[in-house]
Amino acid sequence: MKQDMIVILDLGSEESTLIAREIRALGVYSEIYPHDISAQQLKELPGVKGVILNGGPNNIVDGEAIAPSDEVLQSGFPVLAVDFDGAPGARHLNKWPASEEMLREVLRGFVFDECKAEANWNMPNFIADQIELVRRQVGDKKVLLALSGGVDSSVVAALLLKAIGDQLVCVHVNHGLLRKGEPEQVVQVFRHNLGANLIYVDASDRFLSKLENVADPEQKRKIIGAEFIRVFEEEARKLEGIDFLAQGTIYPDIVESGTKTNKVVKSHHNVGGLPEDLQFELVEPLRQLFKDEVRACGVELGLPDDMVYRQPFPGPGLGVRCLGAITRDRLEAVRESDAILREEFHKAGLDKKVWQYFTIVPDMKSVGVKDNARCVEWPVILRAVNTVDAMTATIEEIPYEVLHTVTRRIITEVPGVNRVCYDITPKPSGTIEWE
Ligand code: XMP
Repeated sequence: MKQDMIVILDLGSEESTLIAREIRALGVYSEIYPHDISAQQLKELPGVKGVILNGGPNNIVDGEAIAPSDEVLQSGFPVLAVDFDGAPGARHLNKWPASEEMLREVLRGFVFDECKAEANWNMPNFIADQIELVRRQVGDKKVLLALSGGVDSSVVAALLLKAIGDQLVCVHVNHGLLRKGEPEQVVQVFRHNLGANLIYVDASDRFLSKLENVADPEQKRKIIGAEFIRVFEEEARKLEGIDFLAQGTIYPDIVESGTKTNKVVKSHHNVGGLPEDLQFELVEPLRQLFKDEVRACGVELGLPDDMVYRQPFPGPGLGVRCLGAITRDRLEAVRESDAILREEFHKAGLDKKVWQYFTIVPDMKSVGVKDNARCVEWPVILRAVNTVDAMTATIEEIPYEVLHTVTRRIITEVPGVNRVCYDITPKPSGTIEWE
């Protein structure tokens, strides 16, 4: 392995992730492990140079304070204990540092002076390591990947292609609710540019007929999710000799699902609800990366910028933006207006500034006038929000000039639309999506 590693043992502190990020920012790789890792397991991890114990108020589970075993504490690695006094022999830091700079200084001293770690954590090394690990895990077997075209699955595909070439089988399911140009881009980039073994399934009709007359948002989501699994499963059954399933699981998925202080690390695998008799072993090469690192990895692998830096897009796609019961013509109005908004945001440089922006078409009409005649048509609603964690959001103040251009284009280019409205509701009280 090409990387040194600092192991953080999770004692229930919420700052473990922050410490991991800070250490990685110093150029040294770091991972969080459960507090009760054995000394043997710790020694078997590649490249370990030191251990950080991060305590804090949450290290009480079922009324008892949790602590790493004495064996681990005496395993010979330098230990830094932050806000945790149960580690004889460790260097102690009794209070959480007052500022980020101070934290960085403490970590720098520990990582480089005491642990003698080298700053060798970078994307080319990460990719080289993962390629080696994947080859070792997979051998000459085949790996299946549901390639949605989102950032995570795209980066996994590009990485696995490098590692195992045509032992990777990608399945791209078009559920008919993707944005304009999206399925075409997936086919272009992966099949034509990168030469991937890609199965493209156009299941639009199937999804849309299942969704006919279904107005309840939760019901719509359930149908889309269940149908997706069914289509993917059908494709998987047609293939022979697949032993592995690749997933775009990333580090926050694992850390957020909790370590020993609430749940067990690495227990969160959810193979998207595939049936029990389809048994695969998982390949998750991005499981140690934070989102920005996933993007950096994608760039390093040569994926196009608009794929790597694309805005978040919900699994049920445009289906939750075509409010109420989905009809094909109204869905097209969502798709076309979304394409116009994206194009104009790109021209105005807003695409790099705004976290998420899209259009919504409600199931209602209003009176308007076009070509000197009355018309009763749909409105298009514009939404553009900024957020850190999607729990709360503020709205972006789009310049009026851009709003005018977008409006003019939508009412002239999108059939069935005679009005454009701009939603300036923050979250709360409005959610980001309308359904
Ligand atoms: P809300 O509307 O809850 O959205 O404020 C927060 C973020 O989550 C996305 N979102 C979804 N993502 N499946 C997804 O994969 C869904 O069903 C779903 N619903 C909302 C939404 O786009 C926003 O980024």
